[in-house]
Amino acid sequence: MTETGRTEAVKAFLGAVRLGFEGSSPQAQTRACLARVFDRLSDPVVADNVPAARVPTSDLIDQALQPALQADETMAALAGCLRKLDPDLPWRMRGGKDVQPGETGPTTIANAMIVGPGGLEERRDVWVGVSLVPPGVRYPDHRHSPEEIYLFLTGGRFRHGESGWFEPGVGGSLYNEPNIQHSMEAPADAPLLAVWCLYDPRHA
Ligand SMILES: [Fe+2]
Repeated sequence: MTETGRTEAVKAFLGAVRLGFEGSSPQAQTRACLARVFDRLSDPVVADNVPAARVPTSDLIDQALQPALQADETMAALAGCLRKLDPDLPWRMRGGKDVQPGETGPTTIANAMIVGPGGLEERRDVWVGVSLVPPGVRYPDHRHSPEEIYLFLTGGRFRHGESGWFEPGVGGSLYNEPNIQHSMEAPADAPLLAVWCLYDPRHA
């Protein structure tokens, strides 16, 4: 732990997330949300011994980190921090029914909360987590009231509002305005890995 109560691994990861977003040519809205998130994160809170947990899909993490490790220095550093943090992560299967791929293998989306409800740092004002989507699987349409920013460590497709499907690419970011419907889909032959941050002013 540091003197502020945040573990070194979480501190390094959050710093790398910030640099990753800053290096992603963010839209103005993404940049503004990022500033709100990290303003709140300057005040750390420590959770009570949240246990690490694995699910079948979390075994795809090494494969999912490869594109970022082979990208630029900033994304490689983020992937390195995530790899270091992975053994501590409370991985969970996403609730609900996921779209099934045509081939065998993990079919359930895994999420891990680093900061936020049930995360390594328990809080409600800011959520920072990762989603790992198995090859060929689609993260179903969903919406939530907090605004949200995404940073992609792999390929894959995204859709929000009326946008139609598009590919943010490795190191790409995007902004979801409050309550906008959104979904994403892994490539047919590779997992999708993304970091997301939500800012909830109701708890700020
Ligand atoms: Fe979302």
